[in-house]
Formats: sequence, C-alpha cells, structure tokens
Amino acid sequence: MILVKKWRNCKAWGENKREDIREKKEELGGLNNRFEDFGQEADFVSSTILFSTRAVEIRTVILYYGMSDVHIYLLIYFELVLMPVTIIVGAQWGDEGKGKIVDLLSDKIDIVARYQGGANAGHTVVIGAKEYVLHLIPSGIFHKHVTCVIGNGVVIDPMALMDEIAMIKSFGIKIEGRLYISHNAHLIMPYHKLLDNIREQGTNKIGTTGRGIGPAYIDKYMRTGIRVVDLLDRRVLSDKLKTNIQEKNQLLSKVYGSAEIDVDKIISEYEEFDKKIDPFVTDTSLYLNAALRKKKRILAEGAQGALLDVDHGTYPFVTSSNPTSGGACTGLGIPPTAVNNVIGIVKAYSTRVGNGPFPTECLDETGEKLRSVGHEFGATTGRPRRCGHLDMISLKYSLMVNGVREIALTKLDVLDEFDEIKICTGYEIGGRILKSFPTDLQTLENVTPVYQSYKGWKEKISAIKQYRKLPSRAQRYIETIERMSGVPVSIISVGARRDQTIKR
Ligand code: GDP
Ligand code: IMO
Ligand code: MG
Repeated sequence: MILVKKWRNCKAWGENKREDIREKKEELGGLNNRFEDFGQEADFVSSTILFSTRAVEIRTVILYYGMSDVHIYLLIYFELVLMPVTIIVGAQWGDEGKGKIVDLLSDKIDIVARYQGGANAGHTVVIGAKEYVLHLIPSGIFHKHVTCVIGNGVVIDPMALMDEIAMIKSFGIKIEGRLYISHNAHLIMPYHKLLDNIREQGTNKIGTTGRGIGPAYIDKYMRTGIRVVDLLDRRVLSDKLKTNIQEKNQLLSKVYGSAEIDVDKIISEYEEFDKKIDPFVTDTSLYLNAALRKKKRILAEGAQGALLDVDHGTYPFVTSSNPTSGGACTGLGIPPTAVNNVIGIVKAYSTRVGNGPFPTECLDETGEKLRSVGHEFGATTGRPRRCGHLDMISLKYSLMVNGVREIALTKLDVLDEFDEIKICTGYEIGGRILKSFPTDLQTLENVTPVYQSYKGWKEKISAIKQYRKLPSRAQRYIETIERMSGVPVSIISVGARRDQTIKR
C-alpha cells in the first residue's frame, strides 16, 4: 500500500516535472542539449547508451533529485537520439576511398560538408559506368536531396571551384540552392600556386600537389589572407590584394629570382569570380547550427588523411590543415557536442603520394602489383602512388587520434590475387620492437616493419554482397583487423561502384 502511494506521488511529481521540462525545452528552442540542461537542477544525472547504430542511439537518462523522509525522487527516461553529425576521416595517407563512402552514406544524410584542405583532394565517385572526380565540392552532390557545404576551414581555388561547378552542371545536376560556401573560407590566389611550385623546385621537397595549399594556409595564419567575404567589397579586395602582391613580389624577385605578378590582372579576375560565387556564399556555421537544431543529419567529409595532418601526421611531410576529426568542428563552426560518430576509411593496404616516411612501402613486385591492380595513380595529379602492406601501428595511432568508432574497409578486392597478405604489427629499431607509432621523423625513417603473414583467398570478391559469402580467408583478414585495432569494420568495399559494398 505504502509503495503504491509512493509510486503515485512520484508519478504525479514526475508529470509536473515533465511539464516543466517541456516548457524549458521550448524556451531553448528545441536545442540539442535535451535533458542535460534540466539535469543541472538534479543532484545526480546519469545517461547510459543502451543501443546505438550509425543513425540513432537509445539512452536511459536518470535524474536523481534527492530523498525526503518518505520519497526518493528519481526520474527515468528513455531517449531516442538522432545522431546529428558523423565525421568521415581518411585513416591513412589519403586516397582511402572517402569519395565512394561519403557518396554511399549520403543516401540517408541531409547535408555533406567539407571541412579542410582544398583542391589538393581528389575524391572519386563511381556511379554506374561513370567516374566523377571531385576536388572541392562535397561527395554528396550526386544525391538530389543532399545540400553541400564548403566550410570555413577549406582553402578555395576560385578557378578550380568554377570548373567543378560547370562540370557538375554539365551532367544535368542542379547545384543552385544545393551548395553553400563559407564567407570565412580563405581564397587561393595565383601567387599561392606559384610559390608552392617554386618551393618544390628547391631541396627538401614535400612532394605537394602544387595547388597552393601550404602558401594559402601560411597567409591565413599570418592573418594576411583574403577570404570569400572580401570579394563582396571591391575596395577592400583591391587594397588587400595590392598589399599581398607587393609583399609576394618582393619574395618572388628577391628570394626566388622569379618574375613578378601583375596586380591589375588578378584584381579583375577575382572581381569576375565574385559575380559567379555570390549566390552560393553564406555564413555556413550559422546554417549548419540551424540545421542541427532542426535535427538534420550532417556528414563532415575530411580530405587527405590523418597521417598527413599538420599536427598529428608525419611532419613535415604533411599537408597544411587538420584532416583529423578535431578539424571538423573548427573547419565548420559546429560544436564537438554535436558529433556522435567518426568513421575511419581504411584501405586494405597502404598507399602514399609525395615524399615522407612510409615504413611498409614495398619497392618490389608486390608494390608494383598493388599499384597496377589497385589503379594507384593520383586522382588530382596522376602521380603513381607508393604502395605497401597494411600498417597496424600507424593505423592504431590514427584511429586513436580520430576517435574512430567504426571502420569502412576499402579496396579489399585489390588483394584477391595475392598468395600472401601481410600486416605490420610492430616496428623494429635498434634491437627493440616499438608497438606504438613514433612521431619523430628520425625514428620513423629508420624502423623495420615486423609482419604477420596470412594466406590470400585467391578468389574474386567484387560481386559478393553478403559478409558470410566472402571467402573465409577474407573474413579472417577483416576480423584480424578488427581484433588488432579494437574497432569494428562496419562497411567493406569490394569495388569502386556503389553496389560493390558489403554492410555488416
Ligand atoms: P579518396 O581521395 O579517399 O576519395 O580516394 P580516391 O578517389 O583518391 O582514390 C580511391 C580510388 O579507389 C578511386 O579510384 C575509387 O574509385 C577507387 N575505389 C574506391 N573503393 C574501391 C574498392 O573497394 N575497390 C576498388 N577496386 N576500387 C575502389
Ligand atoms: P585526398 O583527399 C593523398 C599529399 C601530397 C603531399 C602532401 C602535401 O584525395 O585523399 P599539399 O598539396 O597538400 O601541400 O601536399 O600531401 N596530399 C595527398 N595525398 N590524397 C590527398 O587528398 C592529398 N592531398 C595532399 O601528395 O605529399
Ligand atoms: Mg584522393
């Protein structure tokens, strides 16, 4: 009897509390914060994830409001949470197949947003017999219902962007009203490309893509960069350009002995660009945060890969931005609390373009075979990619830095014809075995990889649609990756096309 009474009191109290909560929720305009805001009134709050998929999470929320003589006030809710932001990161040195996976996942996504890098990226999407290579426009553009965003963290080459917009339109794909460009994104100027290429002719080459990425980010952090918003005011644009070009001309003529740049030509070119870009420019951070409040699902598309990250990669042989998941928040102006998932794109073996350490690189016929079977030639520059075995040491480091929750394993079919498949499980140096990724270049350049070897499945897998139909040796390879990395493989790509994908 007493118990029933207590329950009734609790229930009545709970209903009042729920009403309070509803009012407060409205006050907050349906903000994503949910009960955490109200939890501040409670003495204790606990939230446990009961069930989680890529799109939704079911949580129990328990609010404890203390105890009176007769009552313990507990409020227990089950919450269904839509996962608003998923970040897609390249987990190796780029070219893992991000374009394919982003296009695939865009099916159930409202917005796809690029957060860093520039036209150094080359993301391939294959639809039927057609292959599209995107450099700046997010890979969700082929889905009519998807809106694409180029965030503030991206450095935009206006010429490359205009060419890409024209290319997309030429395929009969509507782009107006579906593409937003951040007013805060920095612009790549002709002198950035010039400086990038001149620097690469000297010693200590990085092996850049020559797209002006490094010099553009230098100006951004030097606080002299020109942003999309500057295009809107001709006087500001012209003043900024003049100051920049004067400085660059000094550098070009005095340091590099190169010809100077014509200021007026650049000013008129960029004024022309302004007219074309105008309909796409907006405050994308504002747009994305409003979309979050409306519970829209957002995919943040990284370019390059974690091992090319300027902070966490194989510095100085890196790009000049943060492809790691942390870069998504700064590069889009969205809060970390909105991110619920990070998917790491992992190629079933390793590749790298440009210079820098690559412990598992195969300079023999294995490397040649990986390159020819996997068509490992750069989507942006056409350069042959360096190829080698899967490296679990650098991969585990990358998964850790990115907080990867699930792996999309790509290009597994490329290994079909190999008798032996190897995974690097340690680095040997000076008689010691390193089990973690050394971040100093000196060590990394001198390690010898330690391998575990597996028998190949020697069977074509590109037409397989279900995991259980994969050859047992292929399943074993996938499960070994899961066991060693501690991260589940949720997507397996067995060909470039959309339908050549196995979901688990
Ligand atoms: P991204 O920069 O990470 O988007 O990757 P790229 O587009 O530069 O390079 C990946 C290449 O592999 C592209 O040519 C894709 O079409 C292709 N590709 C993607 N997934 C697969 C796969 O599972 N198997 C094969 N054979 N090719 C794939
Ligand atoms: P996606 O997005 C692979 C490499 C270059 C060079 C280094 C610095 O297609 O995976 P940069 O031009 O950025 O200053 O060059 O980074 N690099 C990439 N490698 N994939 C990419 O992009 C890359 N973007 C840059 O080869 O080693
Ligand atoms: Mg690429």
